[in-house]
Amino acid sequence: MDSSKPAKAVKDVVEAAAEKVAGVLTPDVPGAPGSAPPTVEEPTTPHDPLPPKAEQGAPETRTPTGAKTGAPTTANGQQGAFLTTSQGARLRDTDHSLKAGPRGPILLQDHHFREKITHFDHERIPERVVHARGAGAHGLFTAYGTAEKVTKAGFLKKGRETEVFVRFSTVLGSRGSADTVRDTRGFATKFYTDEGTFDLVANNMPVFFIQDAIKFPDIIHAAKPHPDREIPQAQSAHDTFWDFVSLHTEAQHHTMWNMSDRGIPRSYRTMEGFGVHTFRLVNAAGETVLVKFHWKPKLGVHSLTWEEAQLLGGIDPDFHRRDLYDAIEAGAYPEWELGIQVFPDTPEETFAGIDLLDPTKIVPEELAPVQPIGRLTLNRTPTNFFAETEQVAFHLGHLPPGIDVTNDPLLQGRLFSYVDTQLTRLGGPNFSQIPINRPHAPVNDMLRDGFHQHAVHAGVAPYRPNSLDGGNPFPAGDDENAFVDVPVTVAEAPKVRANPVSFDDHYSQVRLFWLSMSPVEKEHIIRAYTFELGKCYHQAIKERQLQSLANIDPVLCAEIATGLGLPAPQPTVPLADVPPSPALSQVGREWPSDGRMVGIVVDPDADLDGVGQVRRAVFAAGMVPLLIAPHGGLVGDLPVQRTFATGRSVEFDVLLLAGASAPAPDAIPAREATAGAADSAAVDPRVLLMVEECWRHAKAIGAWGGGVTVLERAGVAGTPGVVTGDSGAEVFTAVQRLLAAHRVWERFPASVA
Ligand code: HEM
Repeated sequence: MDSSKPAKAVKDVVEAAAEKVAGVLTPDVPGAPGSAPPTVEEPTTPHDPLPPKAEQGAPETRTPTGAKTGAPTTANGQQGAFLTTSQGARLRDTDHSLKAGPRGPILLQDHHFREKITHFDHERIPERVVHARGAGAHGLFTAYGTAEKVTKAGFLKKGRETEVFVRFSTVLGSRGSADTVRDTRGFATKFYTDEGTFDLVANNMPVFFIQDAIKFPDIIHAAKPHPDREIPQAQSAHDTFWDFVSLHTEAQHHTMWNMSDRGIPRSYRTMEGFGVHTFRLVNAAGETVLVKFHWKPKLGVHSLTWEEAQLLGGIDPDFHRRDLYDAIEAGAYPEWELGIQVFPDTPEETFAGIDLLDPTKIVPEELAPVQPIGRLTLNRTPTNFFAETEQVAFHLGHLPPGIDVTNDPLLQGRLFSYVDTQLTRLGGPNFSQIPINRPHAPVNDMLRDGFHQHAVHAGVAPYRPNSLDGGNPFPAGDDENAFVDVPVTVAEAPKVRANPVSFDDHYSQVRLFWLSMSPVEKEHIIRAYTFELGKCYHQAIKERQLQSLANIDPVLCAEIATGLGLPAPQPTVPLADVPPSPALSQVGREWPSDGRMVGIVVDPDADLDGVGQVRRAVFAAGMVPLLIAPHGGLVGDLPVQRTFATGRSVEFDVLLLAGASAPAPDAIPAREATAGAADSAAVDPRVLLMVEECWRHAKAIGAWGGGVTVLERAGVAGTPGVVTGDSGAEVFTAVQRLLAAHRVWERFPASVA
């Protein structure tokens, strides 16, 4: 690059590049890397860094102590047109080290070489000890004002808008593991309120494996890969997990949630979130209530099928993060309502006989409805994964005035654990000054120095009381909105290592969950347990878990025992007589389908006008059309997103067939499923496989014109959820209606009622 040339405006560069590829690119389909299309030739005219993509956001530019800077968020990104050292000196060459002659050796004085390599050598930081794999997004929380009576928290006052950052995660896998494994999902939200940051560090399941935080290393050691061989990665289908949960039966409730469809969500956008613990809210008059927090997704709660989850682990291990980013880029902003279940703050801390301090128990919504208090919209993807998603640090102790903790022994332990691990993970005590963690409230602490100190503290008296800094900082009084720990009475009691007796019931709510499932959901639960226990090596562990299952439900136990080839034991405790909670089932309602993926198989000789119309209709419905054709590039003037070789059914929520594509030249029978059967000659075997898989996974399928032939060849014509019509538009409308129920449930056989 010639450093004497003037830098060109970013706008010119982006526009010139866009013009060059106009007509070929499809900016309306999300997923393009970079904010401008690349040119074939290497760009050589100097210009400022390209802006982030339109849907990307970054942490607001605040000082380390919370003040607004007024600078654009890009001020934290790289500046200027020219390559520099970390000190800003322009560099002519970064491809050759400084050597004594062309054949070396390299000279020690080559500062640029040493800086570049040294920094690279230290690029990795420890991944989170749990929840290592995650994806984040920025958004906005708008309060309804409905919580004003029960809390003085300012961000919950009517109409108040608060910036948020959310990180979703799996628990067990390493940072590079697959998204779609069977696991609990984290749902952690940082509200940057002007009264201090509030972190709601939640999961997509309302109960936890353990009742006391001291057991956390035990459950995690049991669930992580075996320490000798370090297998299996990111899954619970192995001996140590089932060894622990069958011995430590308070884990049975959470385990059944994991074995249910909740363990394999369709998308982060279709997950509920639960604060799990009971929290205490306090209003301006000092009155308190106990609450449980719930996130309710606008799109409903939906899951993958087990086969989809497994296929996606290989075909698209990034399925959930891609879905999150693509939905935001497409403008289908993920939304949740925040709700609370409210309970009187009584000395017993129970509600309807349920101990509110026991994190293995729920309070059914039928007993205490979830009352909406605000709306969360995720509308910007991060600009830089490491800076934002990796460095974000949540903590349950980050509470604004008006929200307080309870004595739940799991919650109490978490209050210690997060900051302790973050000291190591983020390399010192100043991680609250990293841009994504900076509060949006004025910070005046007396914490000083330490690694990576960004603040430049003035004054000489970081202690209290002082007179040398004029007494600053001052304690806030009652009228100055101080955080006040609610003066809850702690009952006089001996110091013991013991649980309340109410924590001893390990089975009644697991049975409640089981009885609340529809037949198809029960079937999935049976298959999940049978698979996971079937992967265990030792029979003793399977037998022990069967005993717990017998204590939950005899039918459940018998079905799984049959699959394992073992006798079903008799219950050792009376079966609980509990009414089901219909709110726990995912089946039987209709939901919006924003941001869903519509696969459209195109035959180059087929009705391309019709395909163009359907494509526009899919966009208009807030969904994303992906055209699948025998080859890449264009079909007519329509851009192709997947070929028969690169597309697979699991990427789509519904499938439309616009033609009957004959086998493409690359459909050579090979030793893989996509090569299809020998008698599939008239239709490309990969298209037939897509149809078969979509049918098996109970997805809606539509066809018109030549596409109807494909349905016939696949043997699915006329079956439930397979629609045909005269035009693509008509077929799409029918398929969209089916998608509202997420799946064509009647296609799933169920062996249990
Ligand atoms: C109700 C029970 C729990 C829930 C809902 C929960 C949720 C979460 C979530 C969502 C994250 C990921 C945060 C992120 O995205 O950065 C996380 C991380 C973590 N959790 Fe928990 N957790 C629970 C119990 C516990 C317990 C009992 C402990 C320890 C005593 C614990 C220790 C940790 C640690 C060490 C991390 C990693 C934090 C970091 O490196 O920043 N968790 N948890």
